Amino acid sequence: MATIRLMSLQVAVFLVLLAPVTPPVSAQKPAAHCLDKCGNISIPYPFGIGADCARDEGFQLHCDRNESTPRLLTYQFKPPQQLVNLSLADGEARVLLKPETKCIVEERSADLPPPPTSYTFVNGSTTYRYSAKKNRLVALGCPNLGYIVDGSDNYVSGCMSACRPSLDSPLPAPCTGERCCQINIPPTLNFYVPRMYNFDNLSTVDAELRGSTTPCRHVFLVEQTWIETVYNDTKDFNRLELEAMPVVLEWAIRNVYNCSAGKRKTTDYACRSANSDCFNTTDNQGYRCRCYDGYEGNPYLDGGCKDIDECQRQKEYPCFGKCTNTQGNHTCVCPPGTSGNAKQENGCRPTD
Ligand SMILES: *[C@@H]1O[C@H](CO)[C@@H](O)[C@H](O)[C@H]1NC(C)=O
Ligand SMILES: *[C@@H]1O[C@H](CO)[C@@H](O)[C@H](O)[C@H]1NC(C)=O
Ligand SMILES: *[C@@H]1O[C@H](CO)[C@@H](O)[C@H](O)[C@H]1NC(C)=O
Ligand SMILES: *[C@@H]1O[C@H](CO)[C@@H](O)[C@H](O)[C@H]1NC(C)=O
Ligand SMILES: *[C@@H]1O[C@H](CO)[C@@H](O)[C@H](O)[C@H]1NC(C)=O
Ligand SMILES: *[C@@H]1O[C@H](CO)[C@@H](O)[C@H](O)[C@H]1NC(C)=O
Ligand SMILES: *[C@@H]1O[C@H](CO)[C@@H](O)[C@H](O)[C@H]1NC(C)=O
Ligand SMILES: *[C@@H]1O[C@H](CO)[C@@H](O)[C@H](O)[C@H]1NC(C)=O
Ligand SMILES: *[C@@H]1O[C@H](CO)[C@@H](O)[C@H](O)[C@H]1NC(C)=O
Repeated sequence: MATIRLMSLQVAVFLVLLAPVTPPVSAQKPAAHCLDKCGNISIPYPFGIGADCARDEGFQLHCDRNESTPRLLTYQFKPPQQLVNLSLADGEARVLLKPETKCIVEERSADLPPPPTSYTFVNGSTTYRYSAKKNRLVALGCPNLGYIVDGSDNYVSGCMSACRPSLDSPLPAPCTGERCCQINIPPTLNFYVPRMYNFDNLSTVDAELRGSTTPCRHVFLVEQTWIETVYNDTKDFNRLELEAMPVVLEWAIRNVYNCSAGKRKTTDYACRSANSDCFNTTDNQGYRCRCYDGYEGNPYLDGGCKDIDECQRQKEYPCFGKCTNTQGNHTCVCPPGTSGNAKQENGCRPTD
């Protein structure tokens, strides 16, 4: 008789909001010694490797060069987690997070899951939120009722993945409830603990949900495009273990809730370039910066936004006449003796 043993990997993922606080802000832009890359990932200010290179603790990163390919880590998670992508323009970062997994395995099986990972929260993040637009909560394997709870153990969001008797039946679309389900998460989420309803005693589960039970069940957040491009029902729903999943984080300056409040606190206003302005994040939990039209670069640095020389970029700024670059703009006029629209090919005609 096969003995059933439960293997549970307890995984909790934490990014906790403390009420907005005034973080220690480095008064000067990052020192000259600051690294601008970790491996092939660029680290633009307000991010930085080391305390005197980042705007505050939330933007501080660590470059782990112990392995052959350097890994970029954020200590806003405990244990630290790996960032694989960082972007100033869209205010996003990607982190790799290990799914919560629970398996029913026979004791004889040699393929035991890896030892439990335990993430415990130390300090909150004033920097990151889980993107509600780009991430989905996924419950994989069946039967599986996967959900997440918040810091007060209140239910946040979840879905039910059911089994059918035949595993060969083609599915209408990936992850729509059979063997895998997905659901939105609410905006401004910065803390969650993944959970699974206990379906361990299958004799208590209705037959139409039970079907061909999978050996393991998983709950995780993942970038939504993963479901369409990487997830493969046939291959993935029966897996014992899943690799860490890409999760999109939205970062912002969050020591105040909005742009106007940020501007009033001139000493730690983040948009340092004279040719930049701030804008509210869509979640109303902070602000970010952007260069004025006609400028590009890093708005978080003094002098970071540089004039675009439009005349050197014919493709983006077509000009078929006399092009003159100006601060933040350019002029494009027909050559002397002609008139018309110089921005169109053959737009200038000789004047009589
Ligand atoms: C960085 O290197 C990794 C591994 O070599 C590669 O998968 C990734 O696409 C690279 N990223 C960029 C932005 O070049
Ligand atoms: C890298 O290796 C050093 C020395 O072995 C160790 O102290 C440190 O914790 C390691 N860093 C990481 C991020 O694993
Ligand atoms: C990183 O982000 C950029 C811009 O959003 C995207 O083009 C690129 O594919 C991303 N790389 C990875 C490894 O996700
Ligand atoms: C956590 O925050 C407290 C108070 O804000 C600080 O004293 C402590 O050093 C922080 N711990 C870590 C590991 O960052
Ligand atoms: C499973 O549930 C059934 C029905 O409630 C019960 O008779 C049985 O003892 C349970 N088995 C275990 C292992 O808990
Ligand atoms: C999914 O995985 C199966 C089994 O490995 C493979 O035969 C099939 O081509 C894959 N489908 C897609 C869409 O990649
Ligand atoms: C803007 O943010 C400040 C401080 O974060 C807050 O006191 C104020 O109520 C916010 N304004 C609005 C209109 O929400
Ligand atoms: C940002 O939000 C605040 C409060 O909601 C509002 O008063 C302000 O006009 C907004 N600023 C911008 C630049 O959108
Ligand atoms: C550039 O100049 C044109 C023509 O004077 C004007 O319509 C446009 O708004 C200007 N653009 C910027 C970014 O100032």
